[in-house]
Amino acid sequence: MHERRESPRRLRVGGCHGVLGVTMEVNCGSLSEKDVGKNISIYGWCRYIRDHGGKLFIDLADRHGTLQLVFEGALLKQAESISKEYVVFVSGIIKLREQETIDQENPSGKIELFVNKLEVISTSKVPPFELIDEKKKFLANEELRLKYRYLDLRRKEMIQRIEFRDKLTKSIRKFFWEKEFLELETPTLIKDTYETGSRTFLVPSRTNQDKFYALPQSPQTYKQLCMIAGLDRYFQVARCYRDEDPREDRQPEFTQIDVEVSFKDEKYIQSLIEELMQRVFKELLKKEIKQGFKHMLYKDAIKNYGSDKPDLRFESKILDITQEAKESNYNMLKRITESGGFVKAISFQAMFGSESSKLDKNYMLKLIEIAKELGLGGMTWLFVSNKKLCSEPSSIINSFGEDTANKILSKFLAKEGDVILVFADASEKLLLNAIGKIRKIVGDRIGKYSEEYSFLWIDEFPMFEKDEVTGKLKPAHNPFSAPKQDTLVYMEKEPEKVVARQYDLVLNGVEIASGSIRIRDPESQRKSLSMMGMNDKTIDETFGFLLEALSYGTPIHGGIALGFDRLVAILSNSENIREFILFPKNKKYESPLDGSPTTINKKRLKDDFGISIDR
Ligand code: AMO
Repeated sequence: MHERRESPRRLRVGGCHGVLGVTMEVNCGSLSEKDVGKNISIYGWCRYIRDHGGKLFIDLADRHGTLQLVFEGALLKQAESISKEYVVFVSGIIKLREQETIDQENPSGKIELFVNKLEVISTSKVPPFELIDEKKKFLANEELRLKYRYLDLRRKEMIQRIEFRDKLTKSIRKFFWEKEFLELETPTLIKDTYETGSRTFLVPSRTNQDKFYALPQSPQTYKQLCMIAGLDRYFQVARCYRDEDPREDRQPEFTQIDVEVSFKDEKYIQSLIEELMQRVFKELLKKEIKQGFKHMLYKDAIKNYGSDKPDLRFESKILDITQEAKESNYNMLKRITESGGFVKAISFQAMFGSESSKLDKNYMLKLIEIAKELGLGGMTWLFVSNKKLCSEPSSIINSFGEDTANKILSKFLAKEGDVILVFADASEKLLLNAIGKIRKIVGDRIGKYSEEYSFLWIDEFPMFEKDEVTGKLKPAHNPFSAPKQDTLVYMEKEPEKVVARQYDLVLNGVEIASGSIRIRDPESQRKSLSMMGMNDKTIDETFGFLLEALSYGTPIHGGIALGFDRLVAILSNSENIREFILFPKNKKYESPLDGSPTTINKKRLKDDFGISIDR
């Protein structure tokens, strides 16, 4: 067989043609004034088309940029048949644009290609939305963008996001490779171990009738097995699958940067991740961040900020004013305190009443609604004006009485323009949780941050917490986290006091990573699982393989997993992770693109998967 040789005068390079006898890799973003006078051949999509009578201009686009094409004379007629998003192959001469038509924002905006040969490679239907720059025009709605994601991805901003994600992946991989971590692939068809947090996606097996695999919620057990195998430094860009309630920063299928190491403690893992953060911030954002992130105990985070992921870019601590409320004349609050309930308040420097204030009465009314949605009875607000607490335009301040008002003022060290929000409830947990959420909402609305990036380690999570619905104990993180030795005494009688060697990393109020030092002997592992209500039989059926493995010489080990989609989003100043995922699901976890999930008819379920169901 003869290999067909390209002509030396026309070499094909990755989808582009180079002419002039040299190999040139050209794309719509690579050409500039230095190419003036050259003959160029290039592929691309026809984005904007402008007919100037006698001259036709087309912005030819690809992932690298846009290049203006000029058609005139004999080619005009052929060019007029072109519509938006046609793929063409054109040849011509690069010329300088006339001064007044120069596009300064575009790197190839000083030149244009005078086309002398045009070939239509493929035609296109009229796109369902304009492939515009986000800054310039109103963007199509998300559902439509997701349905036609392959078109949405042709837009400049989407290309930038996807390229940014790629750069971040490369930077992280390089970091771990340099440190001699092995990049390992753990299986994604695994055993169903009835994970406690979120639900698992099941996959029926045709080869093994009536049996199922589970898709991993994370590579947790397998990365521990890697440690037992002696593969002492592991990382993985891992796909994880969780059938949990949708939220802005969640997807049913997401990516973790999963890490596990042997013979190291939490200090090593935390400083490793700090070094990684320092590296990626420098490489991707050109920003210097200092190692030695802040630390906070879980219990302090909950008490002071109502959240295990407080945003410390603004201070605003929650203070308990139960005693003050008890002593006040405010009947509604008094009643709650007298029946054992709690009153808590939080203040914000918001210059209430000033023109620039984003916290006006209407917003306060909105917050009351939010408080109700979060399960509270409501909210009272107070603001500080002329060194006094006032509640204009409402009148609740009279209900507090001057004495209590002054106590609240001094407790908060309240300053002119501060807003104090007051909440009460019988359950301290519910109250703190709701205020924590409101704190973040109000803080973001005011938007006055003391620093751009605020990293915070939350340490010492409880090992177990009570499930609000079932009342049963469940692991606060995962059942594999090791307990702190000095808290083991509480295991039998007060298990909620047992502290786990678990840590989360928070960035600007978003949990971006979570990890722990693991249990390493089978008996403790069995105990941890049994505390969650699993009997021995269930433990053996589900985690028998892990218990067995733990009994063959298990190293001290621990790890962490970074929520990669969240990290990409937050580094790009966004909280919507869908914008940074190639083909994400929508807010209802459906794919508008392929229509999944779909119903499978009974016959196919039976014939292909051996599953009989009654619908
Ligand atoms: P965890 O369950 O906390 O820990 O997950 C680790 C990180 O993954 C991110 N994350 C998500 N991102 C997008 N969509 C989701 N549905 C989603 N769920 C979680 C978060 C979170 O901090 N096996 C342990 C890790 C370990 O202990 O090593 C685990 O999976 O940013």
